Amino acid sequence: LSPRLRGCNLYLIGMMGSGKSAVGDALARRMGTYNFLDTDVILERAVGMSIPEIFEKEGEDAFRDAEAQVLDSVHAHVRCVIGTGGGLVTRNQNWAKLQTGLVLYLKTDPETIYKRIEGTDRPLLQTDDPLATLKDLTEERRGKYEQADVTIEVEDGMDVEAVTDMCIRML
Ligand code: S3P
Repeated sequence: LSPRLRGCNLYLIGMMGSGKSAVGDALARRMGTYNFLDTDVILERAVGMSIPEIFEKEGEDAFRDAEAQVLDSVHAHVRCVIGTGGGLVTRNQNWAKLQTGLVLYLKTDPETIYKRIEGTDRPLLQTDDPLATLKDLTEERRGKYEQADVTIEVEDGMDVEAVTDMCIRML
């Protein structure tokens, strides 16, 4: 492993459906001594509700507060690959935690994401035109995602192993 890492955490950021969970899991396995954590999964287990249920019952603000708390707790770990919810980057205070590690942005087109997540339950995409919503969200968050240390361009049709290889090459 690159000496640049020195056991620091790797944070995967990017839009929903960009592959953070699948790539994060594969990346941690390839790196051997790293564990994979996923902020959405930790949050769901902590509150005993699914992400759509949390949005529905508590609203987005409460979800973002809880998500920030999860980040607070996971950032204290070492040698973890941490997959983050797509909107975690939008809170400035979360960047203090992200910057304690190395941040990788999985950059994907809204069209690619749309194909991948069609039929899944994403609370923010319960709109008349989910593709347009994805485009708006991607544009709105662009400046945040671009604060990453490393950007991985994920092309349509690229599989998990290929994206993981690209991540490894960038470390
Ligand atoms: C969100 C992305 C989701 C989840 C929630 C909100 C977002 O996570 O945290 O639905 O704001 O983009 P994934 O990026 O893991 O799908």
